[in-house]
Amino acid sequence: MSEKKRVLITSALPYANGELHLGHLAGAYLPADIYARYQRLKGKDVAFVCGSDEHGAAITIRAKKEGLTPKDIVDKYHELNKETFKKLGISFDYYHRTSAALHHQTAQDFFKKLDKQGDQFLKKSSEQYYDGEFDQFLADRYIKGTCPKCAHEEAYGDQCENCGSDLSPKELKNPVSTLSGKTPQLKTTTHWFFKLDAHEAWLRTWIKEGKVDGKQLHDPSKWKKHVTGQCLSWLDNGLQPRAITRDLDWGIPVPAEGGEHKVLYVWFDAPIGYISSTKQWLKEKGADENDWKKYWQSDDAEMVHFIGKDNIVFHCIVFPAMLKAHGDYNLPINVPANQFLNFEGQKFSKSKGWGIEQHEYLEVFKDFPNKEDALRFVLIKNLPENKDADFKWDEFVENHDKDLADNLGNFINRVIVLTNKYYEGKCPTPSAAAIEKNEVLFEMAAKIGVDIDQYAFKQGIKSFLELSSFGNTDLQDVSPWKLFKTEPDSQVIKDCIYQALQTVGLLSIYSKPFLPFISDKIRDLLNLPHLTNGDLATENLNKELIAPGHVIGQPEILFAKIDDRKDQSRMEIVNAQKEKLAAILAAQKPKQPALKPEITYDDFTKMDLRIGTILTAEKVEKADKLLKLEVDLGFEKRTLVSGIAKFYKPENIIGQQVMVLTNLAPRKIRGVVSKGMILMAENEKGELTFVAPSKSWDNGFPVA
Ligand code: MF3
Ligand code: ZN
Repeated sequence: MSEKKRVLITSALPYANGELHLGHLAGAYLPADIYARYQRLKGKDVAFVCGSDEHGAAITIRAKKEGLTPKDIVDKYHELNKETFKKLGISFDYYHRTSAALHHQTAQDFFKKLDKQGDQFLKKSSEQYYDGEFDQFLADRYIKGTCPKCAHEEAYGDQCENCGSDLSPKELKNPVSTLSGKTPQLKTTTHWFFKLDAHEAWLRTWIKEGKVDGKQLHDPSKWKKHVTGQCLSWLDNGLQPRAITRDLDWGIPVPAEGGEHKVLYVWFDAPIGYISSTKQWLKEKGADENDWKKYWQSDDAEMVHFIGKDNIVFHCIVFPAMLKAHGDYNLPINVPANQFLNFEGQKFSKSKGWGIEQHEYLEVFKDFPNKEDALRFVLIKNLPENKDADFKWDEFVENHDKDLADNLGNFINRVIVLTNKYYEGKCPTPSAAAIEKNEVLFEMAAKIGVDIDQYAFKQGIKSFLELSSFGNTDLQDVSPWKLFKTEPDSQVIKDCIYQALQTVGLLSIYSKPFLPFISDKIRDLLNLPHLTNGDLATENLNKELIAPGHVIGQPEILFAKIDDRKDQSRMEIVNAQKEKLAAILAAQKPKQPALKPEITYDDFTKMDLRIGTILTAEKVEKADKLLKLEVDLGFEKRTLVSGIAKFYKPENIIGQQVMVLTNLAPRKIRGVVSKGMILMAENEKGELTFVAPSKSWDNGFPVA
């Protein structure tokens, strides 16, 4: 697998039915942008495509709720999201939309090609929920009910947002049509299914070994473990044919006989949106009609999908199977999916007002210099690359002030000031030894590139800051301001400033993928042109960046601290955000149950509470709430029955330490004698969690 000259980079097409929040940005857009910008610097021929996902029932539902047409909705959010991405420096080559004619055509052609092959699709009649009052079949999203897995009462027909389970409408208990609010009926309808099961075998080899038909296409060790793990678990569960059409009137008409009043399922057409986005981009550039194939179908191109973890199955299983079924297409060489970003300890939630949207951030901080890169920086430092992460305002302030203002900003400022002061802004002439020392700097900088190439962006920004710290330390060690008083002509000072300027030069380059606006500003300070594609191509690597005699610009402060003692205006904005959250939390506080009447100390001491460890756990037959547990109490082992089956899987609680009320009179529950009770904490939803010692404790000791 040699280096390819073209890179096709995709970011999940966001639904155009709402604003995007910081979690979206951190999930699929910012990482892709870093990667794309870096590949461009290296001189790769990059296509970075995205666009609005404008179909699907979520959009028609929203439209219905607001008394608008789906088109009103998508027009509004398409523009808003597109503009906001641009303001944040997300450098898409093209931001298309799936309602565009070219996309409809591309998706229909794709469908027709597979349909014609005869062995990819099957048509099947089945019973689907139907709303008699509205005279229409109900898309999965139009049905709500109780989740069979977690009992959440507001689960959708396709997914439970509480526990994340994928569902089908018939699994829901007490299904209700969101159109009429009534119980829907079952009625027969016919749909096209993609025979995903027929692709299972090669998909497994592809995911596990990176090989298709014996040909090595990618290195599977470079894929994130959580991505491969999710794929293999899907494959191990066995793939099923998937319905790829829906009874809806918003979407892409099914181009086949019997397709009237049916549209392509949104997850069938949306990934094809990457293809149509590429086509539209090139079309507008006046390229040849077939040029898009250079990115999608040629041997010298590679494709990377950037997505959030909820989209893994579509990008690692369904879409690759579609591409392979079609033939001619490349498969992705990697899908570096991110996990989720939370916000101050909770999930982003529009209805609760929890979180901040991208455009809202830009609005709230409109007067804050470098607000775009400040946000990018803080998110990059905390990307949910391999596990969920949490955005916190306090960290936002701290990271910005410490890393950007104190470390990076201060270093660059000192170098620019000193060069102007000592040498009238001219880069001094170094000794041979100083030139040799450039090697160390180049190595440190190259490390940043390696990190980015491996999708390790968090590590990348760390390596970047290390380069800046290194420069700072070096400057501090020499402290030219001391020496200058006695020996203003010293070569030691010249070497030090020369080196520091090279470091700033490298920072101007390697900041570009992460902090594109700051990069331009550093270039201005250095009086160098802004970077263009290919500036980091191999032939331009390891070169002296600032030549002796080059005249730099005048100093200018790069960053204004947020928590600035002399000017608290920015801190006030952050504080207002924090107060808003505190108010939500206060209003959210669930109603606690009323307190019970007072008891005496003697009443309390009647209870014999002890620490125990769960040894075995199994489901109690015909009782979906109960687990039968064997608990080690140190002095004996006890059998207990506990109503926790909905919250814990038996295999996950072996070894769990618990608190046991041991002298509760034994009770027979479903034929099992339960001797005692395990203490649980219950919340307002009736969910249970163990009350347990905070460190490993000896079994059998009393709770006092
Ligand atoms: N709209 C989907 C989401 O936000 C993502 C679609 S990705 C694509 O979850 F591949 F289908 F485009
Ligand atoms: Zn659930």
